[in-house]
Amino acid sequence: MTPVIERDLAALRATVTAWKRAGEVVGVVPTMGALHAGHLSLVSAAKAACDRVIVTIFVNPKQFNNPEDLANYPRTEHEDAEKLAPLGVDVVYVPDGDTMYPDGFSSTVTVEGLTDCMDGVHRPGHFEGVATVVAKLFTQTAADQAFFGEKDFQQLLVVKRMAADLDIPIEVVGCPTIREPNGLAMSSRNLQLSEAGFETAALLHEELQGIAAGLREGAPLAVLRDRAIARLSDAGFGEVEYIDLRGINNLSLLWAAERPARLFAAVWFEGVRLIDNIAV
Ligand code: PAF
Repeated sequence: MTPVIERDLAALRATVTAWKRAGEVVGVVPTMGALHAGHLSLVSAAKAACDRVIVTIFVNPKQFNNPEDLANYPRTEHEDAEKLAPLGVDVVYVPDGDTMYPDGFSSTVTVEGLTDCMDGVHRPGHFEGVATVVAKLFTQTAADQAFFGEKDFQQLLVVKRMAADLDIPIEVVGCPTIREPNGLAMSSRNLQLSEAGFETAALLHEELQGIAAGLREGAPLAVLRDRAIARLSDAGFGEVEYIDLRGINNLSLLWAAERPARLFAAVWFEGVRLIDNIAV
């Protein structure tokens, strides 16, 4: 069944209030649209855990530090609604810019510490934009649970911290990264890759796996990383912003997987910024 598309905040609130009065548990999957199987897996996780599921679609201008990236971001609302139709989503909330940021809007949510590295450094202002819009989506939907992909692992930690710090009564649930058959992490930005580029881009995941295997055998991270960067460059990749090993709780930089850690990478390819991370 085609889900209800709701653009009006007051109407969304009335719907959610009625659900809650009936004792129903409400889940939310925040997205910027251009939905792929990764998003749909979040919806399935929400459906399994909650009585009602809201998917939000809002291309949030505040989290784009690059105007070209914002302009190129795919907008596919019609196709998105079709993809959600078989999944039993109750409401697709599609607020407009004025609903999210009305005239005079002047507040920003900043999460310190977790944002001092990786995308927090390479995309100035990005996490302020994310934390601000997600705080609004949490309070607007009044959901009990929210579902985020581990592909954006730093975002997941930032959102968890923000919700805890602001006493927003919501459980933030992380869900595994969904990959293409060739290993490439699913992302709306993959739509911007050429057909051949789509195949080559999978090398990023392969190299991360290679580094993780090398670490398990005791090889030094610096050597493994230099080798991976050389291979990516030979394959036509552009700037490697980072390939870091970091602790999973506070993202502290590590040189060996001496505690639960993940390998994180951000690399440019065909003008597209690809990010990925795997557990080590
Ligand atoms: O991950 C995303 O798609 C966005 O950062 C989010 C969480 C929907 C906020 O705009």
